[in-house]
Amino acid sequence: MRIVPFLSCLFTFTVILFIACNKKGTVIDPCANTNYNITFSKTESIGTLNNGTISIMQPQGDTMQYQLNNGAFQSSWYFTNVAPGNYIVTVKNQKGCTDTVHLTILNYGPKFAAVKQLVVGYCGPCHLGGTVNGGMNFDTDASIVANKTRIKVRAVDGIPTFMPEAPNAPLSTVDKQKITDWINAGGTIQN
Ligand code: HEC
Repeated sequence: MRIVPFLSCLFTFTVILFIACNKKGTVIDPCANTNYNITFSKTESIGTLNNGTISIMQPQGDTMQYQLNNGAFQSSWYFTNVAPGNYIVTVKNQKGCTDTVHLTILNYGPKFAAVKQLVVGYCGPCHLGGTVNGGMNFDTDASIVANKTRIKVRAVDGIPTFMPEAPNAPLSTVDKQKITDWINAGGTIQN
């Protein structure tokens, strides 16, 4: 006789238990908030060589994997022979959680690439890494292009004095010619 109220009571209890358990059982996404603040360095592709490189500086580690666009994941954080273009680099940890960073590999003309290399090689520490002398900082490609005439006057013609500033040696004849050739070809990053 008391079986019906008992069953209904049991049923209600079961439903309550089920709801409670289901709430607790809510799956937490193990990849939620995966955010690596990915940092990278890159070198641009020169001429038609498709020789850009990408180095993922952070995150690095034994269990990390790296992917360029839809390519295969690799354990190396270093990509070579990268053509000019826009890329998405994906990093993946051992749980399969991913984070991405977007970057662009530029196409430098060979003459600009040569000038950029000599500026990086000879104009630091006075005009690179945020340092400004004579109003000049050459950290960006745009600053080299915009100041090409002054760069030539000082580093090629030496008027009124040569850059790199004494007591540093002036550029070699070969390096001076690289600046002249680049400007004569148009003086953009594509030249
Ligand atoms: C050891 C430090 C030092 C190095 C290396 C150096 N500079 Fe300078 N540069 C200076 C200082 C100091 C000034 C400001 C005084 C002056 O103009 O002479 C200056 C000024 C300049 C100016 C602006 C003045 C103007 O006449 O327009 C240019 C352009 C310049 N440097 C180009 C270069 C280039 C290109 C290189 C590398 C090939 C270079 N410098 C290497 C110290 C340096």
